[in-house]
Amino acid sequence: MLHYDEPSWQIAHRIRFDFNNLMADTIGEAHGFTEAELGRQTEVAQAALAAVQAKRDTGWLRWMGLPYQPVDDLLATAADVRARFKNFVVLGIGGSALGAIALQDALLHPYHNQLPDDARGGPRLYVLDNIDPDWLLALLDVLNPTETCFDVITKSGSTAETMSQFLWTRQLLVDRLGEQRYAEHVIATTDAAKGSLRPLVDQENYHSCVVPDGVGGRFSVLSAVGLLPAAVAGIDIRGLLAGAAYADRISATPDLWQNTALMYALTQYLAYRRGQPLSVMMPYAQGLRTVADWYAQLWAESLGKAEDHQGQVVNVGPTPIKALGATDQHSQAQLYIAGPRDKIFTFVTVDKFANELPIPTWRTGQSAVDYLGGHTINELLAAEAEGTALALAAAGRPNATFKVSEVNAFTLGQLFYLLEIATAISGELYNIDAFNQPGVEAGKVRAYALLGRPGYEAQAAEIEALRGKRKARYEI
Ligand code: PA5
Repeated sequence: MLHYDEPSWQIAHRIRFDFNNLMADTIGEAHGFTEAELGRQTEVAQAALAAVQAKRDTGWLRWMGLPYQPVDDLLATAADVRARFKNFVVLGIGGSALGAIALQDALLHPYHNQLPDDARGGPRLYVLDNIDPDWLLALLDVLNPTETCFDVITKSGSTAETMSQFLWTRQLLVDRLGEQRYAEHVIATTDAAKGSLRPLVDQENYHSCVVPDGVGGRFSVLSAVGLLPAAVAGIDIRGLLAGAAYADRISATPDLWQNTALMYALTQYLAYRRGQPLSVMMPYAQGLRTVADWYAQLWAESLGKAEDHQGQVVNVGPTPIKALGATDQHSQAQLYIAGPRDKIFTFVTVDKFANELPIPTWRTGQSAVDYLGGHTINELLAAEAEGTALALAAAGRPNATFKVSEVNAFTLGQLFYLLEIATAISGELYNIDAFNQPGVEAGKVRAYALLGRPGYEAQAAEIEALRGKRKARYEI
């Protein structure tokens, strides 16, 4: 039995959700929830959970089965890449990139790419999730394409950013290796049958991985989209899936007071309804900074919707805000504590970091400095997190904390899945489809029209008409 399958180990690494500072007992009746209020909403929350469970593994909820997928093929692909390449570059954007970035930041050495080869123990990992030309070209100053594997990740195969990056990197490879050999450096991660990339896989004979049916980009971190880059870099992907499966189990209970995802989703929803549409996520761990980025996309793209299930215009959706403790205490905290009462806060804290860093003692005679000696940086960070939560609570600002035992594959997989299921439950609470993204498509379509893609002539005409209304004096 692997350690993460042992019940006592799992319990020790269960992510706790401390919502004391959301409750009236702590922050007062005017600002907090009472148990009676949560009790009155229990049935609504349970109905939302039941609706999610009823759709489990169907339609766009097939990501719920990802914790149980076999990964032998993925691990074999990763082993092959590790043996053949010095660098692994992900080409992708949005849900096709944010998971890999979060995994890289949370579970690899913070300076993974700069480590000497023997200390790194695997390829360098780069995730190109933007199309700034200077940034893209700069990659060639630090890696040689002939020592590199490019994983082009796009479910649709039609995302202009990703496909233009792919055209660029393909040409680099063809120029250096020739038409015959370049394909050995390409992995295509895309839909099994649909989209514009799949035919190229067959035509060019690329190695390919599948974005499974019913798994949208922002719910794909635990598919080949996130798992292959993770496995190539040496991350324990079985541990990730074990953590996700554990979260799946916890999230199945209809008992609101035992179900982390359900309590999180309900309290966030109630906060929105009572006038707190801004939802701040603030990890107190450098490695979890981009988990907040991943979460912001998940929350925003899933819950920001124009229409409800019945087609009524509702224009709902909480606005996720990413922050980082302790850094943003010196940037955002003033606004959070004293500004408008339009926010709910979620901290993510870590009980045990891989290292403990003592603060040396030096008696300077300065009381603002001398008290630090003898403590650890770990204690200071924990005190900063608790201090901020308490300051917010004292100001009647609702806040809760996900408490993570340590950042490892199991806890990260658990966190991903808890937040995914909380998002699906929230979709039901808002009575919207959490799995479409017409707003994103609207932007994509206009970009296609601007670049003259056939089939988008009507949008091009609309853009021209809008451009005709522009006034020079409005641009100064
Ligand atoms: O979550 C989503 O669906 C989006 O963010 C997509 O991941 C993003 O638009 C990229 O799409 P694709 O994977 O089709 O290139």
